[in-house]
Amino acid sequence: MEELIRRAAKDISDAGKVVALTGAGISVESGIPPFRGKGGVWERIDPEYASIEKFMQDPEDVWDVLIREMKELIDKAIPNEGHKGLARLEAIGKLQTVITQNVDGLHQMAGNTDVIEFHGTFAWQYCMECRKRCETSRIDMSRIPPRCGCGGIYRPDVVFFGEMIPQQHLIRSRQIASECDVMLVVGTSAVVHPAAMMPVIAKHNGAKVIEINMEHTPLTREISDYLLMGRAGQVLNDIAAELEKNDK
Ligand code: APR
Repeated sequence: MEELIRRAAKDISDAGKVVALTGAGISVESGIPPFRGKGGVWERIDPEYASIEKFMQDPEDVWDVLIREMKELIDKAIPNEGHKGLARLEAIGKLQTVITQNVDGLHQMAGNTDVIEFHGTFAWQYCMECRKRCETSRIDMSRIPPRCGCGGIYRPDVVFFGEMIPQQHLIRSRQIASECDVMLVVGTSAVVHPAAMMPVIAKHNGAKVIEINMEHTPLTREISDYLLMGRAGQVLNDIAAELEKNDK
């Protein structure tokens, strides 16, 4: 593993543009469970709860079963060594952009300044009638589903299954993926599209793809140059430390 940490640090150090694509795995050490795999949300809750059809049909049920729990977990989560590691890479000028599938805001909290929230943000809700926005922390949870002053139902500003990725995020992410020299792919099962296409675009445009995950993914054999198998917190802390050492 030490060998691979040094290799990753060297690849990052030699690269002009480095970007990261992150998924739920990077927030696991902050107490937010992943979606898939052991202990994942979809083991307990039917994934149809994350679909726009289900939300339109029965917003009360979706708020009750899924959104309420997300709010409780995200409210108390703070960045872990993984988020901090990526912020340290930016601080020494070695990471430009984080494309994240997460909606928890932890990359920004850790200090990364250019974060593309590919699946939206849980920090905000908007009214389905009048579109007025409200910070999630200010939402009155005493009534489910929460409602705006106009009587409309609030929904999180996230991308449900069955919805489009916001155009500007998709266009910019594709561009960044095609221009980078190294893409770090951290804690994503890489099965949800179009996010999972970003490493493919990067690879086809000549970038090195470095995966950090606890297990193999569909990218590992075909797309990734190598996999650093371990927890994102430890691995990113070690890579940042190696780069900081060389930076002095
Ligand atoms: N460190 C690194 N990787 C980890 C860790 C950890 N501590 N814990 C888990 N993982 C890995 C798992 O091995 C898995 O590959 O993180 C990945 C999590 O996968 P998913 O739960 O599928 O998360 P993600 O890829 O972000 O899901 C994509 O699916 O449900 C939707 O919209 C949701 O954005 C989400 C999208």
